[in-house]
Amino acid sequence: MLIQRPSDILPSEITPRTLFEERRRFLRDAGLLLAAGALGGALPSAEAAVTAAPKLGPLGASPFSTSEEKTPYKAVTTYNNYYEFGTDKSDPAENAGRLITRPWTVRVEGLAGKPRTFDIDELLRLAPLEERIYRMRCVEGWSMVIPWVGLPLASLLKQVEPLGSARYVEFVTLHDPKVMSRLPVLDWPYTEGLRLDEAMHPLTLLAVGLYGEVLPNQNGAPIRLVVPWKYGFKSAKSIVTIRLTDKQPATAWNKAAKHEYGFYSNVNPQVDHPRWSQATERRIGEFRKRPTLMFNGYAEQVASLYQGMDLRANF
Ligand code: MTE
Repeated sequence: MLIQRPSDILPSEITPRTLFEERRRFLRDAGLLLAAGALGGALPSAEAAVTAAPKLGPLGASPFSTSEEKTPYKAVTTYNNYYEFGTDKSDPAENAGRLITRPWTVRVEGLAGKPRTFDIDELLRLAPLEERIYRMRCVEGWSMVIPWVGLPLASLLKQVEPLGSARYVEFVTLHDPKVMSRLPVLDWPYTEGLRLDEAMHPLTLLAVGLYGEVLPNQNGAPIRLVVPWKYGFKSAKSIVTIRLTDKQPATAWNKAAKHEYGFYSNVNPQVDHPRWSQATERRIGEFRKRPTLMFNGYAEQVASLYQGMDLRANF
């Protein structure tokens, strides 16, 4: 089989003109092409629009970004946990293509003065998109450095005016048995939760992209949570509902094994998982083990949230 390089292929050979123009209109409506134009001074060519993931931007840089070496795009997008698409690390990249991410809405409800349903493209315009290069630590013992693109969760929550009685935020993700697993691996839909002050913390991100491009489905498209000082399972993917509550929400992994996965899930090298140590980690792409840092290296920003708490009991 002969595979042509994208540069050898005329867009008209791949896509009829009306179709790629339709796609350009969709991207423009989504605010993606205009943003890319502001970045590079020109709209991407029709060829780029049909062959590459849409670029996001313009992107503000964040003082919260680490300067550590980024994990290659390929590893970030092919070594994933997204159990709705299979339990092997390579399954999500193989199967998540079935997920349709437009149109998409996120309902923000519960203890809020102005509960609302946001269209995903409206949500993208609530705040300037930023690039946040974060260390990510999985509870299984591996870590990555990922250049996310997103907006602070706080900028969405402020829109609905949380009531004084709101103390927690619950995240509910899509469960569509037409495209996702029906196996009872977890109690679907996958849910997660944060305390309201954790949710409002400036480090807490709603990610819509990575490496400057729209989020691949396997990484949680069109919108997923990123909380860099917590183990990766807090990062609920493909969110459809965000609910402000006065009670600590049940979370998928806590329901599955409550002695192993607590509500807080803060990265803590001093508190072992019942079946393995959390003192070290393996950065994907490296062989040596590195010491795991308290709050995944974000202690300066977040330790005050847990002052006076027993982090062994509240793991
Ligand atoms: N979200 C949903 N909906 N389903 C999942 O299975 N897995 C979690 C989290 N979010 C999961 C999910 C786990 S265990 C991890 S480690 C991270 O997603 C992995 O995110 P990544 O693919 O970006 O590394």
